[in-house]
Amino acid sequence: AVAIIENGKLLSNIVSTQIEVHRKYGGVMPEIASRLHAENIGVVLKEALDTANVKLEEIDAFAVTRGPGLIGALHVGLQAAKTLAMLYKKPLIPVHHLAGHIYANEYVQELKFPLLAVVVSGGNSELVLMKNHLDFEVIGETRDDAIGECYDKVARVLGLPYPGGIPIDKLAKEGEHTYELPIPLKGEKTLDFSYSGLKTNVINLVHNLEQKGEQVNVPNMCKSFQDVAVGLVIDRTVKAVKEYGVNQVLLAGGVSANSYLRSEIKTAMEKLNVQIDIPPMWCCTDNAAMIAKVAEHLFERKVFASLDLGADPNWSIQDWDKFEN
Ligand code: KG4
Repeated sequence: AVAIIENGKLLSNIVSTQIEVHRKYGGVMPEIASRLHAENIGVVLKEALDTANVKLEEIDAFAVTRGPGLIGALHVGLQAAKTLAMLYKKPLIPVHHLAGHIYANEYVQELKFPLLAVVVSGGNSELVLMKNHLDFEVIGETRDDAIGECYDKVARVLGLPYPGGIPIDKLAKEGEHTYELPIPLKGEKTLDFSYSGLKTNVINLVHNLEQKGEQVNVPNMCKSFQDVAVGLVIDRTVKAVKEYGVNQVLLAGGVSANSYLRSEIKTAMEKLNVQIDIPPMWCCTDNAAMIAKVAEHLFERKVFASLDLGADPNWSIQDWDKFEN
């Protein structure tokens, strides 16, 4: 994905999606993801420039996602950005992927500190407290799988297509909560998440029913699963808001596209009298516009990297300004 931004205004935002290719495998195949990034980055860059009607020599800085993410795909973006920065003698700006998801909200809402960002995606589930711009404190995180990963695995066992969040969200609307699934970390005083147990419970339940020759009611399973998966996010968000007394709650990441989560978090935050902001669908899933938004803040502060910048698949958002190799 490539985006071009000028003084807060998005001039272009191009995404080349690989979803159709990965769907055949029921999930992202890292090798194929890297290869498709390498094949497509040139055309996506050209389209972004053409759409914005901007020439490369007019660009003031080149920003790039340094992590977290799949290493092969990160390297492709990094090499492209480094080459451009070197060629046009412009700063190179390293951006944290989750900071991007959080700042996507800035396209529609001013950030009001202190705020709580609820980051729910295919690779991460985190509660991030921000007392100011670029000031990130992780106050809760998943101890194992991310929520999106859990949606994708549950969808696979139910024979639904990748990415699993979308069909589960749709089918849950037609189902009822009939299957009993344990609530993760029940009774524990923590802001952390856990999704691997829930995933295993659904998989075991489906296999047991199949072994007994019983048919799984897919919409009911989707509803039962979604109630627990989303319920955990709501529970942690409510606890965190009460504990930290924030002025605003932001939803961020691919799973924030989930219709049930969107309505549940709205209801819960309205009850607590806290402002809740939900990104529009176009900036929920991965894109470059969100990276450009963070890059503007980093540009202002002159957070620049040298040409030996490396990717970090496990980069913590709290270390957003630590990127020396
Ligand atoms: O943020 P994202 O585009 O990629 C990263 O992980 O960075 O998130 C992708 C995840 C996938 O796991 C997908 O199943 C999930 O977002 N997702 C959803 C929905 N739409 C996408 N999960 C639940 N409900 C949805 N409507």
